[in-house]
Order: sequence, then C-alpha cells, then structure tokens
Amino acid sequence: MCGIVGYVGKDNAKDVIIDGLKKLEYRGYDSAGIAVVIDKKIQIKKHVGGIENLENLIGDDPLYSHTGIGHTRWATHGAPSDVNAHPHINGDSSVAVVHNGIIENYAELKEELINEHGVVFRSETDTEVIAHLVGLFMKDCDSLEDAVYMATQKMRGAYAIVAVAAKDPDKLVAVRKDAPLIAGLGKGSNFIASDIPALLKYVKEIYLIENGEMVVVTPDSIKIFDENRQEVKREVFHVTWDVDAAEKEGYEHFMLKEIFEQPKGISETLNRRLDENGRIKLDGISLTKDDLDNFSKIYIVACGTAYHAGLVGKAVIEKFAKIPVEVDVASEFRYRDPLVDEKTLFIAISQSGETLDTLAALREAKRKGARVLSVVNVVGSSVARESDDVFYTWAGPEIAVASTKAYTTQLTCMYIIALYMGLARGTITQEFYDQFIKDLQEIPGKLEEYLKKTGEIEALAKILYNKEQVFFIGRGLDSSISYEGSLKLKEISYINSFAIAAGELKHGTIALMEPGTLVLALATQDALYEKMISNIQEIKARGAHVLSVAKEGNQAIEMQSNEVIYIPYCRDEIAPLLSVVPLQLFSYYVAKERGCNIDKPKNLAKSVTVE
Ligand code: M6R
Repeated sequence: MCGIVGYVGKDNAKDVIIDGLKKLEYRGYDSAGIAVVIDKKIQIKKHVGGIENLENLIGDDPLYSHTGIGHTRWATHGAPSDVNAHPHINGDSSVAVVHNGIIENYAELKEELINEHGVVFRSETDTEVIAHLVGLFMKDCDSLEDAVYMATQKMRGAYAIVAVAAKDPDKLVAVRKDAPLIAGLGKGSNFIASDIPALLKYVKEIYLIENGEMVVVTPDSIKIFDENRQEVKREVFHVTWDVDAAEKEGYEHFMLKEIFEQPKGISETLNRRLDENGRIKLDGISLTKDDLDNFSKIYIVACGTAYHAGLVGKAVIEKFAKIPVEVDVASEFRYRDPLVDEKTLFIAISQSGETLDTLAALREAKRKGARVLSVVNVVGSSVARESDDVFYTWAGPEIAVASTKAYTTQLTCMYIIALYMGLARGTITQEFYDQFIKDLQEIPGKLEEYLKKTGEIEALAKILYNKEQVFFIGRGLDSSISYEGSLKLKEISYINSFAIAAGELKHGTIALMEPGTLVLALATQDALYEKMISNIQEIKARGAHVLSVAKEGNQAIEMQSNEVIYIPYCRDEIAPLLSVVPLQLFSYYVAKERGCNIDKPKNLAKSVTVE
C-alpha cells in the first residue's frame, strides 16, 4: 500500500519520479505528490486523486532538479485530501518525507512534538510526525542519515520511508521496516522505490533492502547499513522482466491483459518445475521424503485470492498426499494461537510476497517451529526471503488490483506440490502422476482456445450488468471457485456478491432467492454434477436467473439454466484452472459496462502492507 519513488542523478527528477509513480499506482491512488530540491530549497506539489491530477497541477512547471521523492497514497490516517497527500514537510520546509506503512505510536509522538517543541501540524497523517522528527534531529546532526536514524529510534510500526533535506541536497535516505523497499543502481543516477516496475525503464540492477536497513543514495553510490549502522555488502539482483511486461500492450486494461496471459503463466510455472520427462524438479527446494513423512499437518495461510488458491490446495494435497491440511486467512491465523510445531509444514501463498498479514502469520509459524514453504510471484519479496523454501509462480508482474494470472499460477503450484508429495509418500501411483501431469500440460492450450471465445461472456455481461446482488454457488472444488468468482465481481464492479457451497443454500441463504435473482452456478465436477443439478432446480423453483458454468459435453444442465457457459472438458481436479476464467471475464465485462475503474477499484490497493 502506497508507492514511493526517489531519484538522485543526472536527469530531471520530476520526470523520472512521475513516470515511476505511474507504475506504482496499483499500490494506492487516493492522492499523489512530489518533493524536489531546487537551489537548496524543497518544493512540493501534491494533489488528491490519481497521478493525472498531480500532472495537471504541475502543468508546465519544469520543477528542474536532480533530487526528489514522490508518493502515491492509499489512505490510512486521514482522508484522501491535498493536505494529507505525501510528501510531508517539517515546520521550516527543510525536510520532506514519503512513507508507506503505519507509525503505530504516532499519536504519542505527535503529542510530544506539540507539547515539547511547539510543532504545528498541518495534516492528519502519521507520516507528518516523521518529517518533524527528522527536521528536529537535523539541527543537531551532521547528516541526513544521522537525523533519520535518530527519528527511527523513536518510531514503532511498519514503514518504508524516504527523506530528503534542503541542506543535504544530493542525497536520499531511506529505511525499511516491514514494508517493501528496493534501490536501483544506475550510472550517475540512482533510485529508490517500493517495487520493481517503477524502475524497469531505467535500471535492471536492483538491491533488495532487508528489514531494519537504511539506504543512503547519492548519484554515485548506494550504501546499505544494518540496524547497528554497519555497512553491509549486498549482491546485485538482476531483474529479468522487460519494460513491456509492465505495460498494457494494446489491451484496454491490465486486468484483461493479465487474464489473457494465463496460458503463458501456467505453462511457464509448469516448465520451471518439470523436466523433459515430466518429472518434478525441486531445484532450490530442500524438502526431502523424510521431511514429508515427518509432517503431521499442513497449514496453508494467505489472504483474498491467494487464500482461495489455498482452498484448492487443501483439497488436492489431502486427496493426493493424505496429510491433513488446514487453510486459514492470514489476518486470523496468528491471533488464534494455532497448533503449530516442528511437525507442521506452513505454506504461505502470496502474489506480492509483501502482504503484511501473510508475513506476520509466517513469522508466527516460524517462531513456533514450523517449516515454511511459500508460493510467491515476486522474486526476492519479503515472504520469499523469510521462507525456508520458495515455489515461485511465473506469472510475470501483475498490475491490476484484481488478481487473475497470479491465482491460476498459484493453483498450478498447488497441483505440483500435491503431486510431488503424493508420489514421494506413495499415496498416488506413478501412473496417476504421469496422467495428471499430461492433463495439466494440456491446460494452457485449452485455455488459449477458450480465450478466443470471450464475445459470449461480454454479451452476457451486457444483459446482466445491472443486478444489485449476485450469488455464486458450487460443490466441492467448484465452491472454492465460487468464492473467487464472487470476490472478483464485488471488488471491481461493486455489486454485492455472495458465495456459498450449493448444498448449504437450503440451510438459510435460499430465503434470499426471488424472481430474477442472478445466480452463477458452477457445475464442473462430474462427481457432483447430479447433486448440483438438484441444487439448481431448488433455486430455479424460486425464480432465480441461473447462469451455469459446465464442462463441454455436460449438456443436461441447459434444462435448468437460463444460460450456460461451457469450459473445455478436463478432469475434475483441474477444472478450477479453466472455470475461474469465465468468472474473471464476466466480472471484467460487468465492471466495464458499469463504468467502473477496473484496474484501480475504489478503496483497494494491490499490495496490502498494513494490518
Ligand atoms: O499479494 P497477495 O497475494 O498476498 O495479496 C492477497 C490479497 O490482498 C489479494 O489476493 C486480493 O484479494 C486481490 N485484490 C484479489 O483480487
């Protein structure tokens, strides 16, 4: 949440920063701002709303400078407004700060600054406290890094901050504590940012900053210091994504582009883990057969869409490997004193690898002795770095707030993990394994074909877009997909949608069925097909409008449905990889019909780095 960019170097800082902020808008878009140092004075421009508002405010002003910081905000303390927008400055405007995260003791610090130093606050943010603290320490310190260090000694919470000072103009000082931060290494120009896409256009050599570290960035150097202020040597991380990966490439929205990238993401994720004979390669993963035999339980912990991938993970791991699996939302996990010990395998799933709830749950599990395996998209992210082993999803950068290709690649990893465990533990046969791998390898092709027929879903969305509430139902794996379909629809179209296991309807929720109520009924599980048809009949009898999703060949459902979307035929366990796609597309086209901001839905941010 919140995106930060800092630049010091040869070019005009404003241009680099605005460009970088545009790539980080997925992290928050309540307001945007920039601070640059011109003739040893700090100039600030900030505006509520997206980056385009900031650009309009700046207009023709060149704001020519070689040092600056910028921010795109997802509001926590104080409503989205010009005054609450970052950067924040101290009383005499000699220090400016941008911040991602939350300063938990800000109220206490604010009171101290007001009572003991007569500080006058302009905004309602926690961040302004940091600007005043750094400003006060600057009076007695030799350098900006000393002042920032002193300020951080007083702060509690999670943050990534970047500061500039008028009297130390060719320097940025940044600190990372439980919020993402990277530094980009250029030639005569160096960078700071929350995430890689901000810098892709300029640099491919990145330093991943660790928790508790401070970075001092000048045009010629990037120096990293640990919590004890000892300089640390860090390997350069070479980014392999190209600039196009973070561009729309002709698609109207990132979400649509990312839906269409799913065949490639799934096949890349498979290829990275399978050798030419279809055997799973566990390169870089140290789990042995003995480890697998030793685990008495698995926890899968994640948030939102990643949690929904975990639900499918539970079903297939239990089925193939015969180990009990619990799935939990990360924000609940660590507060319920979970039964974790050395015989527990903890699987964290996260696209960004920076979701604070997931990270905190992971730390709790580790503290209690669990072995941690993570399924992560962003290489080098916090979740990846803090795990014992990492299974990367090779989805490429996911920019739209609504997660699509990250989900299907997470599912792909879940299948590989379940198959690997099953084979190693002897709970599935080689024959079953071989056939399943073949079936998985066919999915990208089937999906590719399916994506040629999106017109059908667009047409349905044009008819059904104005419903006030929508239900998603399914049984078995289809119920997991219902949760994901419902989340997708509500987050980008703002329709009140609700998912429930179809068999559970009659225990209460069916009371809400009225003539015309839209129900998306997933019926892709052959083993549960007839039971699902009965559930559809029950709601149909109450007048519901039923849009079903079924496998090609299962036409009987047409009798009970108003419309049917057919996905290519596949085995039951794999159906989620295909059935989720029409739901993603339906949400997309409904949101488009309703004129919603698809890539940046209201109140949301891509990377949720606050609790
Ligand atoms: O980066 P993560 O996978 O950890 O993010 C978890 C959720 O915040 C994320 O999946 C969220 O639910 C998406 N907006 C859903 O589309």
